[in-house]
Amino acid sequence: MNTSIPETAPNATPQEILCEGIEAAAGPVSLACSFSLEDVAIIDIAHQAGLKLGVFALDTGRLNEETYEVADALVERYRLKIDWYFPRHEAVEALERAEGLFSFRESLDKRHACCGIRKVEPLSRALKGLAGWVTGMRREQSVTRSDLKTIERDELNGGILKINPLLDWSEEQLLTYSEENRLPRNRLYSQGYRSIGCAPCTRAVQLGENARAGRWWWENPEHKECGLHRR
Ligand code: ADX
Ligand code: SF4
Repeated sequence: MNTSIPETAPNATPQEILCEGIEAAAGPVSLACSFSLEDVAIIDIAHQAGLKLGVFALDTGRLNEETYEVADALVERYRLKIDWYFPRHEAVEALERAEGLFSFRESLDKRHACCGIRKVEPLSRALKGLAGWVTGMRREQSVTRSDLKTIERDELNGGILKINPLLDWSEEQLLTYSEENRLPRNRLYSQGYRSIGCAPCTRAVQLGENARAGRWWWENPEHKECGLHRR
């Protein structure tokens, strides 16, 4: 694939970034949806702009019930078709038989093994045939995301485009958009959660803590990626 990568203007809106990314990809583009505030906002922006954007979700088998409720609300509100991807059952069975149900707490390697089976391998299947994918990553979320680009080439996934339309939005901008548009919102946010992944690897954060402090809270900040966004 040899699509050129546009440099978006520094003040480009999420809608403009999405449009430019989809146009540059020149083929099917889908949002990777974890049902976060970010991903729901992207679905709404694409819907309002009439953009052609698929939506896929990786069901790790360890998501919160509250997350499925958001998925259901989106199907209802936008008549959304979600392409669900599950881990290979043989791999999950082997992992759980050999290592138990909470091996990801024992070491970084074991955590990566679980994320590899439940997220990264299904992602590789979800991306097959796509010319680009969209994520809800924001720069301020983490030290690991500070140098991302709004549109970049994803060399580790066959060189397709990776589009991050909310990269420069603050959490406040996101909350305002969500409120003004009355978007479906995961109930866990009102219980102190500020970033939501798998249930056993996510908890609420205290006032003053970093938004992702509740993700893999036993690990150092520079390790807090699950492998979906390796570069
Ligand atoms: S993670 O790498 O730490 O898990 P995070 O939860 O911040 O990622 O989400 C960042 C973006 O990754 C989301 O906006 C979404 O695009 C994608 N993503 C994360 N988890 C999933 C999932 N289970 N299914 C689909 N996309 C996901
Ligand atoms: Fe496994 Fe936790 Fe990674 Fe989910 S976030 S895939 S439960 S290690």
